[in-house]
Amino acid sequence: MKSLMILMCLLSTSVLARTYTLTSTQGNLELNVSLEKGRVFYSLNKAGQVVLRKSLLGNQLRGIDLTNGLRIKDSKTYQNRSSWDMIWGEFATVKDHHDGLKLMLTNGRVDMNIDFRLYPDGLAFRYEFPKQKNLNNFEVIDESTEFKLKRNDEAWWIPAFSDNRYEYLYEKDVIANLNVVHTPLTVEKVNGPVVAFHEARLLDYTSYALKKTRPDTLKVDLYPWANTDTRVYGKTPLVSPWRTVQVAFNPAELVESTMILNLNDPARDDIDYSFLSTGKYVGVWWGMHLKKYTWGRSDRHGATNENVKKYIDFAAKHGLNGVLVEGWNIGWDGDWMANGDIFVFDQPYPHYDFAGLSKYAQDRNVTLIGHHETSASITNYENQLDRAYAYLNKHNVKAVKTGYVGTRLDKKEWHHGQYGVNHYTKAMKKGHDSKVMMVVHEPIKQTGLRRTYPTLVSAEGVRGQEYNAWGMPGNTPAHTTIVPFTRSLAGPVDFTAGAMDVLFDEWQPDSRVPTTIAKQLALYVVIYSPWQMLMDLPENYEARPDAMEFLKAVPTNWSKTVGLNSKIGEFATIARKDRNSENWYVGGITNENGRIVNIDLDFLEEGAWYTVKGYQDARGAHWVWNPHALEVYETRVQGGDDFDLYMAPGGGVALEFIKE
Ligand code: NOJ
Repeated sequence: MKSLMILMCLLSTSVLARTYTLTSTQGNLELNVSLEKGRVFYSLNKAGQVVLRKSLLGNQLRGIDLTNGLRIKDSKTYQNRSSWDMIWGEFATVKDHHDGLKLMLTNGRVDMNIDFRLYPDGLAFRYEFPKQKNLNNFEVIDESTEFKLKRNDEAWWIPAFSDNRYEYLYEKDVIANLNVVHTPLTVEKVNGPVVAFHEARLLDYTSYALKKTRPDTLKVDLYPWANTDTRVYGKTPLVSPWRTVQVAFNPAELVESTMILNLNDPARDDIDYSFLSTGKYVGVWWGMHLKKYTWGRSDRHGATNENVKKYIDFAAKHGLNGVLVEGWNIGWDGDWMANGDIFVFDQPYPHYDFAGLSKYAQDRNVTLIGHHETSASITNYENQLDRAYAYLNKHNVKAVKTGYVGTRLDKKEWHHGQYGVNHYTKAMKKGHDSKVMMVVHEPIKQTGLRRTYPTLVSAEGVRGQEYNAWGMPGNTPAHTTIVPFTRSLAGPVDFTAGAMDVLFDEWQPDSRVPTTIAKQLALYVVIYSPWQMLMDLPENYEARPDAMEFLKAVPTNWSKTVGLNSKIGEFATIARKDRNSENWYVGGITNENGRIVNIDLDFLEEGAWYTVKGYQDARGAHWVWNPHALEVYETRVQGGDDFDLYMAPGGGVALEFIKE
């Protein structure tokens, strides 16, 4: 975090009025909690400005009201000042400074605690259902948590309870116009801070959406199990995930927030994680989306020995680290979206030499990346988990991409309910225990579990690049200027950037990628993932040695991340420092409007000289008319200067700052 001020906490308790105040001077935040007529309320301010007005807390368990009739049995405060090292990520070291207040509540028969924490970058709280005489197995049927804003505060939202999971274009609307929306939900308060609602450490619980219940109020709406109003089947002791409210003065600052990671448990320190790596990969993948190849067997089958060798050779030639191959295993023939039950995860098609190709890749310092598409048939996948991961281990495959295409898991359950959460957790633990890194598509939203299970390297959970291949309308030019301030707050995104031929008229004349290629390069800095895909066809990279130079150079593991001049939905600029050198990288992207954005270079070492290599839209570039015009230039700057970033309509710029 930018601020070096020491976090100080002040707690004042008035026993009579039953109000509690917790302040964090570093984040300039103030939390007030009160018990009024048996109900618990809280409110939050930042620097004297109202973030959340008095909002209700509590739960409804089946037959047990834990929202009304509560009294406080006890309270305690606590404090933490520590830091920890990220094995991989956007930062080398993360500060964990927080101040806590725990309220022990009872309705006279059943106890529930609420644990609040203030971090410099926001508020978190969770419910605890402790072990107790009168509560053993229980069902959560509703959570009363509210976030009371102002009706004209503006939110960047995607719809919840919809069949395409998290894969929607974000829209901006006032709170009063929302219906039920997913988190992370980012709200720009009128003349006030930027606030993002999400959750952390989602384990053995259901996830939540936010429902507008009054024109100024969003309420937690827990995903239910199928055919019941039960949201969570619990057994004491149980804790809910942390409900998180990240607060920043501006969007750029949100990008630097580490609260969600801090709320997750550390990775085990008795495991040697030196097998983990970060890197870049290509895949027999885009060809399927372009219909150049098929997943199932045909005369255009993508997963052939010859084709995969071509991809491995390409990766090896350019120092890339992995090759994803989709359509390699039994189950893809026919309508694979409907036939999830027939996928077999340790049996390649007879023509496909999995062992030989894996060896061919390893000999060239490349790993194959496995692919487990489940088509949302969870039972079929879980039945094979042991075999599936043993197969990857046997062939030294270091990473796997999993997929859950389908509107419901096992044809009935939401991806986002407790059933889904428990499945994703089981698979995540299997990957972890098998030392296989995982990139999850159609995932449960990320909630910082990568800290505890650092094999969980990336996830989709966004309307990614593939939507640009499927016929108009694809994504909008504005889409990726919103993602860093919404979806990315949850964790690494497998967006799959890197289109060099954004028109691909030979394959899909009705579709296109709605950007310039300079913007495609910038996305490697703007949207974080420790494993970044170069999603295009190898021949399209071979045709662009100018762009390839940047793609080869850009790191995927960082020691610092700094949000710069940004406006959600219009433009985003982010700087990141390489983990292994003194070099910095900057990505700038814009929506359909061209612009020049000025940034301060105060993230560079003050007074030091840097050679800048810029990859920007050439003059005259335009995402519609002239998307492939890239200009590569060199200049010099000094730390502390400011710098203009030129971006064409739908364009962007990628910069390398090499310390002299
Ligand atoms: C959807 C995934 O997002 C995509 O990347 C993959 O190619 C298909 N499913 C097939 O698994």
